[in-house]
Amino acid sequence: MGLKPWLWLSPSLAHKISPAALNSLTLFSKARRTPPQWRSWDWRGLHFPNRLGLAGGVDKDAQNVEAWWALGAGFLEVGTITPKPQPGNPPPVVDRNVSKEALWNRLGFPSHGVKKVKQRLLKLKRPFAAPVFANIGKNAATSLDDADGDYIELLRELEGTVDGFVINISSPNTKGLRELLKPDRLRAFLTPILEARPKSGAPVLLKLSPDLEDNELAAVLDISIDLNIDGWVLTNTSQGLREGLDFPVDGGVSGRPLTSRSLELLKRTVALLGPRRENRAVISVGGVMSAEDVAARLAAGADLVQVYSALIFEGPYFFRKVGKEAARWQ
Ligand SMILES: Cc1cc2nc3c(=O)[nH]c(=O)nc-3n(C[C@H](O)[C@H](O)[C@H](O)COP(=O)(O)O)c2cc1C
Repeated sequence: MGLKPWLWLSPSLAHKISPAALNSLTLFSKARRTPPQWRSWDWRGLHFPNRLGLAGGVDKDAQNVEAWWALGAGFLEVGTITPKPQPGNPPPVVDRNVSKEALWNRLGFPSHGVKKVKQRLLKLKRPFAAPVFANIGKNAATSLDDADGDYIELLRELEGTVDGFVINISSPNTKGLRELLKPDRLRAFLTPILEARPKSGAPVLLKLSPDLEDNELAAVLDISIDLNIDGWVLTNTSQGLREGLDFPVDGGVSGRPLTSRSLELLKRTVALLGPRRENRAVISVGGVMSAEDVAARLAAGADLVQVYSALIFEGPYFFRKVGKEAARWQ
């Protein structure tokens, strides 16, 4: 496994100190601020210097955007951002199994709140080195019936400060949230949100759960195409996949145990979409742990790929490592 000092820290401590550590890392990377270019992609007026980006939840409050650019991310999803600040769930909230490359969390959207995050985003130098999407979620105190209001507020508040949005109703850690992804609720929930979409044309994507049944996935795709969604991010963490792992039954599992399910869902999604995909983006995330995994997702039809767990087990230089490998694919 090599020398990976961050794995000596307890998971919760590593979680707390990472924002500060990352910003000091950037001090040494300033000269290499531009993300590596490989298989660059232009979509909806956005330029992605490469196909591998940062998944939701790593930089929840947009504290390290420039560090991630410097470390080579081809795009970022900051958040989940909630309208009001909130602390998230009480500890324990993160754990890991190093030999299985598995992570577990039940963080529940700890957020500095949209006003604070917006201030940070406004301070970033433009043009951005790589696109920044905002992953948005409801406050824990907002009822499911009123949830659309939270998402509309977030879209309005952040319009013009980010390049696109990801609607997160697939986290297992906010009570009842995944109910909104159920076909019988999804249309009513999404309709007012997509009617409030930014006039700038910034794309709005939907993040999916890996625990959707086949018929649910088909229905979610049908409904979201009908409402003219701009793409999908799949998948979030799983409420299953505990085999051989000593994690609590609540919360979500990510990393290696998620690899095959996430790839399977990508393949099924690409097949179900067929020509209806048109100009919509498909972003694959979940158990991408190596350059080979990145290549497999692109070969299966993903436009873009994201990682979270790989950064814990492989470290923050993962983006550049994959970039070096990718140079050999072309
Ligand atoms: C500690 C932790 C926190 C996360 N927080 C969020 C979040 O706030 N919003 C979100 O959409 N996804 C969140 N995720 C899910 C990741 O974005 C990703 O979908 C999932 O971990 C699968 O990718 P991976 O196997 O590369 O980790 C989180 C994952 C972890 C491990």
